[in-house]
Amino acid sequence: MARILITSAIPYINGIKHLGNLVGSQLPADLFARFMRARGHEVMFICATDEHGTPAELAAAKAGKPVEDYCAEMHQVQKDLAAGFRLSFDHFGRSSSQRNHRLTQHFAGKLAQNGLIEEVLEKQVFSIDDNRFLPDRYITGTCPNCGNTSARGDQCEECTKQLDPTDLINPRSSISGSTNLEVRETKHLFLRQRSLRDKLEAWIDSKTDWPILTTSIAKKWLNDGDGLQDRGITRDLYWGIPVKKGDEPWPGMEGKVFYVWFDAPIEYIAGTAEWADANGQPDAAWERWWRTDKGAADVTYYQFMGKDNVPFHTLSFPATILGSGEPWKLVDYLKSFNYLNYDGGQFSTSQGRGVFMDQALSILPADYWRWWLLSHAPESSDSEFTWENFQGSVNKDLADVLGNLVSRVTKFATSKFGTTIPAGGTFGPQETALIADLGARIREYEALMEQMEVRKAAAELRAIWVIGNEYLQSAAPWSVVKTDPEQAQAQIRLALNLIRVYAILSQPFIPDASATMMQAMGSTDWSWPTDVPEAMRALSAGATFSVPENLFRKITDEERADWQSRFSGIRT
Ligand code: MF3
Ligand code: ZN
Repeated sequence: MARILITSAIPYINGIKHLGNLVGSQLPADLFARFMRARGHEVMFICATDEHGTPAELAAAKAGKPVEDYCAEMHQVQKDLAAGFRLSFDHFGRSSSQRNHRLTQHFAGKLAQNGLIEEVLEKQVFSIDDNRFLPDRYITGTCPNCGNTSARGDQCEECTKQLDPTDLINPRSSISGSTNLEVRETKHLFLRQRSLRDKLEAWIDSKTDWPILTTSIAKKWLNDGDGLQDRGITRDLYWGIPVKKGDEPWPGMEGKVFYVWFDAPIEYIAGTAEWADANGQPDAAWERWWRTDKGAADVTYYQFMGKDNVPFHTLSFPATILGSGEPWKLVDYLKSFNYLNYDGGQFSTSQGRGVFMDQALSILPADYWRWWLLSHAPESSDSEFTWENFQGSVNKDLADVLGNLVSRVTKFATSKFGTTIPAGGTFGPQETALIADLGARIREYEALMEQMEVRKAAAELRAIWVIGNEYLQSAAPWSVVKTDPEQAQAQIRLALNLIRVYAILSQPFIPDASATMMQAMGSTDWSWPTDVPEAMRALSAGATFSVPENLFRKITDEERADWQSRFSGIRT
């Protein structure tokens, strides 16, 4: 039994996430966590909300709420949606937790002790009417290059020129529109990442088994001309973790907070500490996942995220960890994803384009979405959600292939032999061949799941469902029962056992349907089918089973058309 630590990139607090966000981190991480638990490993699976920063402050202001209240409410909303999608986190924490405050301040203190923090005086735009410093992207003005009158202080989106806020003509605050701006001096902390470059490079080079997508992004940031910059880790904001050196005040940094990207990944650790607190566990219980001097040396740590998050997880967060000089666990394997597009374009949070987590669950149960998203995960390239494709997968894979097998077998068995597993006959050559084929395919499925080849694993699982259908088609118990009822009983006994094995294998993808299948088979034995011939005899003659409610319904053409238009534009 191994010890497996799994983290998913933590979603921003402001707003409900769309299906593209979900399939890029939380959902595949859940698939892997469920599989690893099913194999009997000890798993710690952590996620959280990413709560700090200007976007959270502005979203709260828009909602007319204090930012603390806004974040508490949105955390609960995201937590409930995660539960609705059956995301099996051991803990869903908050980056604003006291645990994260203390750990973030701790890391900053250690980095300072090790000479890795530089204090820098900067000039920054201050909005007198907003009474705050404005981050570059919250200053609007006219682009000196192309004349676009709504260029942002960091970049003009019309001509793509990188800008400095002071380049803008007629600058104004994007928050209030005020032009009452001035440039003020302010002190900030910089993490001297450049001095960690060699260490980071050696560490990345040692990861020969990482996916190409992950290492290519890491290398690009490490080597590109001005790739690895020293990084500002503080901001002049209200909402965030106060800048301190461990428990001590940081002279000159009063009223400032750490930058959201500095504290967010530390929440992976803090979230595990929150898990311990929530479960009445001592510090040792979370430290054994994170401190290699306290038991974490035998932990394997997996991270899941979208490709835009890779630089922060391959360079910035490791710089924090390595720079601390303390024996914290570094990631062992980083699984990253491309983007999921939506129906000929992109998902858009601002335009409400695409399906968001709350909307998805309001029209269909979690398993339908989980199956489609995972079986079309954007691994080797971006992928696209279309309603035609979604309807096709649900109706074919789930309703026709899996659902139909379960209902056909259980209904036929009940009508001919009653609700106990029939005892007659013995397995013949066809049954033996099916069991052998199944065994080989299960080994392949395990290998793909271990390698986090999500799409390929889904395809293998589907193939496993298909061979059951093919077996039934050729064994044809509904004909055999007329001439050789004993043999038909053996065939049905095999088919009912197959349903239980399918429940176990399918559980990481479609947990609700799997639970229904297992319950209908009258079993609670979820142990992984390591010995397949034995697993195919686990339901013994005489035990009772039942006909489950219909596992999956089909999506009609009318629904498809309705949903396609409903989710195409502005959210109402
Ligand atoms: N909130 C970020 C996003 O959604 C991810 C942060 S992951 C972190 O892109 F843990 F590193 F913070
Ligand atoms: Zn421009």
